[in-house]
Amino acid sequence: MQMNLTTQPFASLETEALVTYVFEDGDPIQGRVAELDQASGGLLRKLVQSGELAGKMLEFTLVHAPAGLKASRLLLVGAGKRDQFNAATLRKISGASLRHLKSRGIHKLAFAVREGGATEEFAQAIAEGAITADFETDKYKTDKKNDKFIDSVMLTGYSDAEKSAGEAGLNRGRIIADAQNFARDLVNEPSNKLTPQILADKAEAMAREVGLAGEILDEHKITSLKMGALLSVAQGSIEPPRVIVLTYTPANAKPGAPVIGLVGKAVTFDTGGISIKPADNMEKMKYDMGGGATMLGAMRALAFLKPSISVIAVIPATENMPGGRAQKPGDVQVAMSGKTIEVINTDAEGRMVLADGLTYARKLGVTHIIDAATLTGAIQVALANVHVGAFGTPREYLDQFLDSAKAAGEKMWPMPIDDEYQEMIKSNIADIRNTGTGKGGGAITGAWFIKEFAEDTPWIHLDIAATCWVDEGRPWLAKGPTGVAIRSIVDFAMKL
Ligand code: BES
Ligand code: MN
Ligand code: ZN
Repeated sequence: MQMNLTTQPFASLETEALVTYVFEDGDPIQGRVAELDQASGGLLRKLVQSGELAGKMLEFTLVHAPAGLKASRLLLVGAGKRDQFNAATLRKISGASLRHLKSRGIHKLAFAVREGGATEEFAQAIAEGAITADFETDKYKTDKKNDKFIDSVMLTGYSDAEKSAGEAGLNRGRIIADAQNFARDLVNEPSNKLTPQILADKAEAMAREVGLAGEILDEHKITSLKMGALLSVAQGSIEPPRVIVLTYTPANAKPGAPVIGLVGKAVTFDTGGISIKPADNMEKMKYDMGGGATMLGAMRALAFLKPSISVIAVIPATENMPGGRAQKPGDVQVAMSGKTIEVINTDAEGRMVLADGLTYARKLGVTHIIDAATLTGAIQVALANVHVGAFGTPREYLDQFLDSAKAAGEKMWPMPIDDEYQEMIKSNIADIRNTGTGKGGGAITGAWFIKEFAEDTPWIHLDIAATCWVDEGRPWLAKGPTGVAIRSIVDFAMKL
């Protein structure tokens, strides 16, 4: 899909559909919409009077052959309340319009920003909305709907003076949204098409393409590094584990400067192991590598955006299977850090693989850790599929990250990490146990387990179990993988 910006006045723009947005409060016919209304001889005013154009959030009003415009159609999209309108709203409007028009067989559209809206931030949001909306999960369908595609999106409403800001935003939005779609494509892959080795191959190919340094640790290297927690999960499968390491180094890296470590859980399939999961919905456990995909997506975007600090991604990849050699409940494992773990439940494997991932990242010299993982079903109980659960210490570091989440338009909610929860992962026979004692707080005890391996390094943990995949499509996004957290991580790395 092509995306470009034009400064051509939109009345003279030839396109299959010109899209813009209207607000629900005050008179919807204002500013540029008033100009469109005049050009059409008062048609829009009539639509307001008949109640067909009210500006309610994501209300669509499609006008064919609009008078005074070269466009074949005019699509007016409700934007809700004027004072609540922001880049996040615009991202959704852009995405929802693209999907609305795509499903109607339209191939080319132009998106017009309103008066005052010709900014870099808005261009980025429109690009992100459109490109993530264009993603479909039909890779394995042999009867793809080949007539339903968007060829090009033109961004319009920018003056000559606003053009370069608009293009900068467009470019940045394209990079970030492409990275999200890259991750979503991985998340969508079934586990027979995405083993740890295949994931490593794909990561290496991506690194080569965008100019990142990459190294893949195989099972021998993993063994010699004594990654006992990762190996204990991997031993139940015939597929050997991998640890994917990608490194971005800025042009003039300063010694002593911060280094961000991005650690992502990549369990390419989670059966639960000997503590096996029920059959219902088990097929979803192909997306248990979503944290790893998130970090690969973030690295891909950062390779283009070039932050001024170093970033290292460490992605432990394995299957969690109940093979003959599988670990059993009650087993004690020694993690790379030397901490001993009593395995109460082999289905609490994500924290095990992250334990060694964090230890290895610290060994590589990272000064700040962010981990992302489809870690717990409990985060769904706490926050449904709305917010990512965000944990971290120190609190200022977490708050700084939450500012980035806000700027990126991704909903994340701070979760508690008080010492009382640490008590719940104390083991009778080892240093820690891999599930909490007592009832409740499952997402928090999971986070605490990981924190044991972050030690004194500033650390953020994102539990994306309920948000990295959505079962119902949204007007602006296909159902399935969402690519959540990439935008926040990229924003954060660019600002640190
Ligand atoms: N991968 C799952 C968590 C998950 C659940 C992700 C649903 C996406 C959707 C994780 O490995 C797991 O099984 N967690 C257990 C932990 C428990 C055994 C302490 C869980 O949440 O039930
Ligand atoms: Mn599990
Ligand atoms: Zn899992």
